[in-house]
Amino acid sequence: MPEAPAWSPGSWTSRPALQQPCYDNPADLDAVLAEIARLPPLVTSWEVVDLKRQIAEAQAGRRFLLQGGDCAESFADCDGPTIASKLKILLQMSLVLVQGGRKPVTRMARLAGQYAKPRSEDSETRDGVTLPSYRGDLINRPGFSAAERQPDPWLLLRGYERAALTLNFLRSLSKSGFAGLHHPEYWDLSFAGHSPQSGAYHRIAETIGESLRFMENVLGVRAAEIDVVDLYTCHEGLHLSYEQAQTRRVPRREGWFNLSAHFPWIGMRTAGPGGAHVEYFRGIENPIGVKIGPATTPGTLVELTRVLNPANEAGRLTLIHRFGARLIGEALPPLIRTVREHGAPVLWIADPMHGNTFLTAEGVKTRRFADILEELEQAFEIHAAEGSVLGGVHIELTGENVTECIGGARGLAEGDLKLAYRSGVDPRLNYEQALEMAMCIAQRMNRAVRTG
Ligand code: PEP
Ligand code: CO
Repeated sequence: MPEAPAWSPGSWTSRPALQQPCYDNPADLDAVLAEIARLPPLVTSWEVVDLKRQIAEAQAGRRFLLQGGDCAESFADCDGPTIASKLKILLQMSLVLVQGGRKPVTRMARLAGQYAKPRSEDSETRDGVTLPSYRGDLINRPGFSAAERQPDPWLLLRGYERAALTLNFLRSLSKSGFAGLHHPEYWDLSFAGHSPQSGAYHRIAETIGESLRFMENVLGVRAAEIDVVDLYTCHEGLHLSYEQAQTRRVPRREGWFNLSAHFPWIGMRTAGPGGAHVEYFRGIENPIGVKIGPATTPGTLVELTRVLNPANEAGRLTLIHRFGARLIGEALPPLIRTVREHGAPVLWIADPMHGNTFLTAEGVKTRRFADILEELEQAFEIHAAEGSVLGGVHIELTGENVTECIGGARGLAEGDLKLAYRSGVDPRLNYEQALEMAMCIAQRMNRAVRTG
């Protein structure tokens, strides 16, 4: 194989960069990027390396990855209760998955930096007025005026700071008794008492509590680490100069680390092997993800796995497939075979959200719980049939009581969507739907444990 050309944090600028905003004040942009490059990193290389090891375990079938959070975080939602409720639902889901799957679960939050969004259209027209599309709070503002839609470089700095505030609170919660298994009741959300899933969830929490008490009181073993949970962060690494500004060398380790999040991923729209995103990602040491979908050909996938993981390093590359319930059966098996035969080893995880989005007759963007579950069920079946491992899930969800996706145990209907639709971009599972989804996945994993 020919030697890969030299890489540097800025070598992506020689390639076509899709989905980048167009700023009209480059001096401000440069000042902001220099400031971000000077500020302390958000995560450490120690944590990044640790996550890579966990992903390698998931790749080998010994661990499961739960990746979840908002489609697009908003600056306005950077408040204590909203962040805590996102952590609560992730903790509850992971407890259910640990119990069902009988293996450790790595929690990765689409939080503390998930602020930049790719858009299918560069502009949006309303009542004859055309303006640039909203690209996430890191880039511009959602309101429909020329001033609000103009990309503003100062938002990059605000985004970095909001990410730091979010992460600070998440870290405090997850390193204190709050996140500990001794008190799973702390994770309950006040409005969720009447949730259809709450009985089943509490039985699981109670069983785990009993085992802990047995261990501690009868066997005399104090599980010290049980009050601390690991939580990793991830976001789509879309805005390349923002990511570059947080790409650092660290003492006593080789290479460059993106220290804005533990796990950045390449979105489906920017995953072309010749593009700037792949160029940037190939040189960083982090474990990384790539979204793959209906347009991904076997040839492209082999090239991506080779460029992004030339040393065949375990834990380095996660492929996040998102086909939709109707296409996955046809599209996924050939890609699994191709990667096995010609590519480097990967972790496969399923994003059952992005291939199942549709507009209602009233033009509301939504997803059906049943389609999401169907895609997940098929993903488990297909990987098992191909002798491969589905090592995780990637879900858009929130701890809030929103009404953005249809269905679930409470049977949300199209007419209910207007009650509490808050997402600025894609529809998320609400608290009850997310917990129910975790229960369904756990049951599926438990069947595999029993029969496997
Ligand atoms: C997303 O994860 O919000 C997203 C835009 O996904 P994809 O790149 O898979 O379309
Ligand atoms: Co989304």
